[in-house]
Amino acid sequence: MKRINTAVFPVAGMGTRFLPATKASPKEMMPVVDKPLIQYCVEEAYEAGIRHMVFVTGRHKRAIEDHFDTAFELETELETQHKHALLETVRAIQPPDMDCTYVRQPRALGLGHAVLCAEHLTNKEAFAVILADDLMIGESGGPGVLKQMVTQFEKLGRSILAVQEVPLEHVKRYGIVAGSPADSGLTRVSQIVEKPDPKHAPSQLAVAGRYILTPTVFEQIKLQPRGAGGEIQLTDGIAGLLNLEAVYAYAYQGKRYDCGAKDGFLEATVEMALKHPEVGAGFRQYLKQLQL
Ligand code: UTP
Repeated sequence: MKRINTAVFPVAGMGTRFLPATKASPKEMMPVVDKPLIQYCVEEAYEAGIRHMVFVTGRHKRAIEDHFDTAFELETELETQHKHALLETVRAIQPPDMDCTYVRQPRALGLGHAVLCAEHLTNKEAFAVILADDLMIGESGGPGVLKQMVTQFEKLGRSILAVQEVPLEHVKRYGIVAGSPADSGLTRVSQIVEKPDPKHAPSQLAVAGRYILTPTVFEQIKLQPRGAGGEIQLTDGIAGLLNLEAVYAYAYQGKRYDCGAKDGFLEATVEMALKHPEVGAGFRQYLKQLQL
C-alpha cells in the first residue's frame, strides 16, 4: 500500500496581511484560542499517519523550532509544582515517534520555491504539503482533512489537491481547478490557474492549503519561470504535472478557515472558542449578552 510519510510545512512567508503582528513573530504561531496555528496542522498530519514533519522556515521563525522542541526548564518547573495536566499538554506537542526537520528558504521567492527547498528531505516519495494559514477542521467525529486525502491517495496513488466551491467573486484569491468528475468527491483535473479574474475562471473549485504531491512535481517547479507576483508558484508546477500524470481534486468534508486574513482568523477564533471544553460554555453566555 502506498503511504505518505512526510509532510512539508512552508512557513517562510512574510505574512504581510497580518502586520503589525507578524513584523517579528511568525503568523503560524498565532494562537486560535490556546494553540498556535502550526500545531493544529502538525496534529492533522500526525492523525493522517505522517511522522516526519519538514518545516521550510525563514528569518523570525525560531519560535516554531522552539515550539516543537523539548522545553526542559518549563517541564521541570511544572513537574515540581505537580501541574501534571499542563505537563501532559506540553509534552503532547511532540510525540516520541514524530521527527521534525527544518530547512531554510533564504528568500521568500514563492510557495513553489519553498516546496522545492524540501525536495532532498522527501525521499523521492509522494508527500503532503500543508499551509498553516488554512485551519481545516474535519466534521465532528469524522477524520481530519489530510487523513481523508491520504485515504484517497492509498486508492489512487496520484497527486491530490483539497478543493472547495467558493463564490465567484472570491476566485481571484485562490488557485482554481477544472476537470471531469471521477469517483465520488473526486475530479480529474485538466486545468489549474492561479488567482484568475472571475470573468475567465474555469470553475469555482478553489484549492485549499492541503496537497498530496508525487515527486515529479519538483522537476516541474524547476521548469517554471517566475509567475504571478514575481514568485515561483506551486500552481504552475502542478499545471506542468497535469501534462505528465493524473492529478485529482478532492472535495473534502469539513470546514476551512483562512487564518492568513483577519476575518478568517476571527471566525476561527470564535467558532473554536465555542467548542473549547474549558471556555466554550462561558464564552457562549458572554456572546449571547452582547448588544450586537
Ligand atoms: P501566502 O501567499 O499566504 O504569503 O503564502 P504570506 O507571505 O505568508 O502572507 P501574506 O500574503 O504576505 O499575508 C502561503 C503559504 O506559503 C508560505 C507562507 O508561509 C504560507 O504558509 N510561503 C509563501 C513560503 O513559505 N515561502 C514563500 O516564499 C511564500
